[in-house]
Amino acid sequence: MDKYIVVGNPISHSKSPFIHTLFARQTSQNMDYRSQLVQLDGFVAAMNAFFNDGGKGCNITVPFKEQAFEYASQLTPRARLAGAVNTLKRLDDGGILGDNTDGEGLVQDLLQQQVELKGKRILLIGAGGAARGVILPLLAQQPQTVIISNRTVTKAQQLAALFAEYGDIKAQSFDALGEQAFDVVINSTSASLSGEIPVVPTSIIDQHTSCYDMVYGSTATAFNLWAQQQGALKTIDGLGMLVGQAAESFMLWRGLRPGAKQVQRELRRLLQ
Ligand code: ATR
Repeated sequence: MDKYIVVGNPISHSKSPFIHTLFARQTSQNMDYRSQLVQLDGFVAAMNAFFNDGGKGCNITVPFKEQAFEYASQLTPRARLAGAVNTLKRLDDGGILGDNTDGEGLVQDLLQQQVELKGKRILLIGAGGAARGVILPLLAQQPQTVIISNRTVTKAQQLAALFAEYGDIKAQSFDALGEQAFDVVINSTSASLSGEIPVVPTSIIDQHTSCYDMVYGSTATAFNLWAQQQGALKTIDGLGMLVGQAAESFMLWRGLRPGAKQVQRELRRLLQ
């Protein structure tokens, strides 16, 4: 049976074994997918042991995505620009390919939820690793513009410069936002994890705005509750992105696209 793992620290919360086991069942793939806790100084040793033992592929979560980027012997363009890797695949020649499927997971979920991106004005809040990982796939959808806004504006400026050659992307401070509401607002900040909301003007949202929070929970996230209060058209949490990035990893490993919708429904039920 082909072996796959997800590694992180912590890891017990990971939904990836559940998701990939369902994908494998759906598509009749003979796969064994488990989670593995890796010590903070033990990433390379764990990867060497796994791949030397015949492991086929690995998902990587916090805090090892940058180390996985270094570990890969080849990178996809989207992983190179993301500066982080969430998927490793053993190649036939023994090399290890690093990919980043987070951004495509987000885009696929947005499209699935009927949020148009082409020709639209997108606001991306936050300029950390989560933001960087999604910019290239967002720009590939040919939006009119992506504005990246961050509490620390210099970080937003750095990211805008890094991706400038791939599309229309500009940095703005929180204060400078809001003369015109956006079509799509994506919250990538880690503020949500502690129930906080970035201090952005309410005028970024009107009745045409679709809002996406990259985190998820059993109830609406703090950011999505706030967006609903501002009259947003729709609010979506990050559960679909989680399933979407897993589906992209599965595609890379097995060459088959699993059905994300059914798995998302089952996960949502588990969260209740
Ligand atoms: P991640 O990999 O999850 O993106 P990160 O690289 O530590 O994590 O980045 C966290 C992001 O959340 C940053 O954009 C951070 O803003 P700063 O660069 O100004 O620190 C943002 N963030 C965290 N807490 C926030 C808060 N309370 N309000 C606004 N932004 C916040």
